[in-house]
Amino acid sequence: TTVYVLNGPNLNLLGLRDPNTYGTQTLADVQERCDVVAKESGLELIFRQSNHEGELIDWLHEAGRAVADGTSAGVVLNAGAYTHTSVGLADAISGAFVPTIEVHISNVHARESFRHHSYISPVAAGVIVGLGTYGYDAAIQALAHRENS
Ligand code: DQA
Repeated sequence: TTVYVLNGPNLNLLGLRDPNTYGTQTLADVQERCDVVAKESGLELIFRQSNHEGELIDWLHEAGRAVADGTSAGVVLNAGAYTHTSVGLADAISGAFVPTIEVHISNVHARESFRHHSYISPVAAGVIVGLGTYGYDAAIQALAHRENS
């Protein structure tokens, strides 16, 4: 099984940007941790970040093609601000037939009201918010658990 961990806009600045909200770990630190958790769970890890909506959509299609070709795959998606704006990302997830777990580092429900709505949640297999970067670990483990159940 391949797990795609896809990160959206501004997450390349993790650790530098608003550490009170997002913590001090960098995206490289998160990737390192995801590598360990994926290995422990017996999953292949593909870890990416893009500031471009279309590129994230292309990657969701790639995960969808993997499944269509018979590879088992799952997606962990922190779409950043596109969570709150992107019908295109939601359509890509619902069209891809890949279980997708939505992750947010911060508790979006405790923040501005424009962060309370997600286009991703209705098409996600599950949602993890507010657990810090540990949310990525939990999402990878949840995908491994689905795989083995
Ligand atoms: C975020 C929450 C979003 O509202 C925000 O735009 C981000 C990060 C999070 O991980 O908490 O970029 O997805």
